[in-house]
Parts: sequence; C-alpha cells; structure tokens
Amino acid sequence: MTVFLNGEWMPAQTAQISIFDRGFLFADGVYEVIPVYKGEPFHLEGHFKRLRRSLAAIDLDNPLEESEWFNAIEKLIVENGAGDMSIYLQITRGVSSLPRDHQFPEEFTPTFLMASNPIKPLTDNPDKAAIKAILKEDIRWGRCDIKSVSMLGNAMLRQAAVANGAQEALLMRDGHLTEGAASNLFIVQNGEIMTPPESPEILSGITRATVLSLAKELGIQANETPIPAATITQADEVWISSSTKGVAPVIQIDDNPVGKGNPGPVWQQIQRAYMSAVDKSI
Ligand code: PDD
Repeated sequence: MTVFLNGEWMPAQTAQISIFDRGFLFADGVYEVIPVYKGEPFHLEGHFKRLRRSLAAIDLDNPLEESEWFNAIEKLIVENGAGDMSIYLQITRGVSSLPRDHQFPEEFTPTFLMASNPIKPLTDNPDKAAIKAILKEDIRWGRCDIKSVSMLGNAMLRQAAVANGAQEALLMRDGHLTEGAASNLFIVQNGEIMTPPESPEILSGITRATVLSLAKELGIQANETPIPAATITQADEVWISSSTKGVAPVIQIDDNPVGKGNPGPVWQQIQRAYMSAVDKSI
C-alpha cells in the first residue's frame, strides 16, 4: 500500500514518524475517515468542513491547502487500486525542539499523513447488515465533537462490545443516549426517526447528516432530540451510522431483541436511499 506522509509518497512499510511526535505522546491531533466507492470519495466537502472545525478547535493550522489535499487524495486512490476503500487522514502537532511538555509549543513541525483501508460493500440485505450491540456508560472526554486521535475510550468501549459477542457499544451519559463507540445512533418509534442532537457529547457524523436529509426527502419525520436511555428498550428499530458502514440495523442490545429482533422496514428504506445516493455520486 502506498501512503502519503508529510508530502512524500512511500510504501506503508517504510513510513516512519518521530517517537517525540505529539500525536504519539499526547494524542495531540485530529483525523478524518472518508469513504471511497469505485474510486470516488463520498461527501468529501463535508469531511473537509469537519476537518476545518476539528483543527480550529485544537488551534492547529492545516499544513496543506485543501486543493493540495484533494490532489493527493486523487493520487492515493489511484495508487491503491481506485476501487472501494476508506481514506484515513491525520494531522498532529508533530515535533517541537523542546523537551516533552504538555502545553502547545510555539514552534513545531506538524505531521500529516494519509493511508487507505479496505471497506466492506454496503448492503441492504437484512441478514448481512444486522449487528448486535451492548449498552454502556459513555466514559469518554467532554469534547466528542472534535474528531481527535485520542480514541482510547472509544477503543475500550468497542473492545467491551467484541468481548461480549457484539459489534458496537451504544453509549449513555447522565441517563440519555449519546452515540456509538465509532458511530452515530438512531432509533425509530412509531415510524419516526430520533437521533441525539449535535453537542460536545457526540461527533457530528457525515453519515448522520446524510441520513437526516434522506429522511426528509422520503417524507419520514426525523427529530434531533435528547433521548432518555430507557427509550432504547422500547424502540421499534435501532441503527448506527458511520462512513465505513453506512447505516447498520441493531437487532439485539445486551440480551434483548430490538423490536421483533430483525432489521426494520424504515432501516431498509433509508439504507436503500443511502446506497442509491452513493451510486449517484460514482
Ligand atoms: N468513525 N461517532 C464516532 C465516535 C465515530 O468515531 C464516527 C466515525 C462517527 C460517524 O461519523 P461519520 O458518519 O462521519 O463517519 C460517529 C470513523 C468511521 C472511524 O473512526 O473509523
């Protein structure tokens, strides 16, 4: 695999960064994950808008012009087969000449990189798409709206899901639902969609925004509203959304089936609309 590191192109095995990189020492950096279908990035503008927001939130300048990133993305896609993939993009506050110190250094060389990862094809097949989840207390920090590379909380929560035979952890804080360990959360009740509102407690997902606009187009009522955690046990449908998975129906939470224990009709309608939006973008 070819990767892009600090403006240079190289095989992944030879790419190296300093052990003093602040991304490595302090998780002082941000990232994006951009899905690519048949060589075409999906919602590239939305991902770069969020990247701008994340960088501004941690007071870090973008080391490249966006046009330079876009050119590099085109090249990365071609170098790595021009098919379906996800692009991982990361910018950290890099290395300064000072000894290890928490405060942001005035002078530093940022580290920026891109690599690609395989992505599973989207499916509207209920059996293939269905996942199991667990419900957990949200142990993460208070700025989940920043797409920071500090992912230990997310990793611990996802690991707890896997250790319990599930694929995702759905999270609650102070008695209300927030999101998944690496996804946003939706529930359906009486034909209406609900999802927690944008706040520092959740990442403002690009897929989440797409789902909300598709619901509008389809005439399905969608409410961005705080959701008490107990509501999830009465939901007809529960879904998660992310750039790498599209929209996935949750059929079991802990030991309890969601609704009838099968992916629901509203999920299928939204997932089909999502897949056709992807098809149109290719
Ligand atoms: N994660 N919330 C969290 C905590 C996430 O990590 C993600 C995505 C989302 C969904 O955002 P989007 O729809 O923009 O992908 C919500 C990516 C895929 C990852 O870390 O791999």
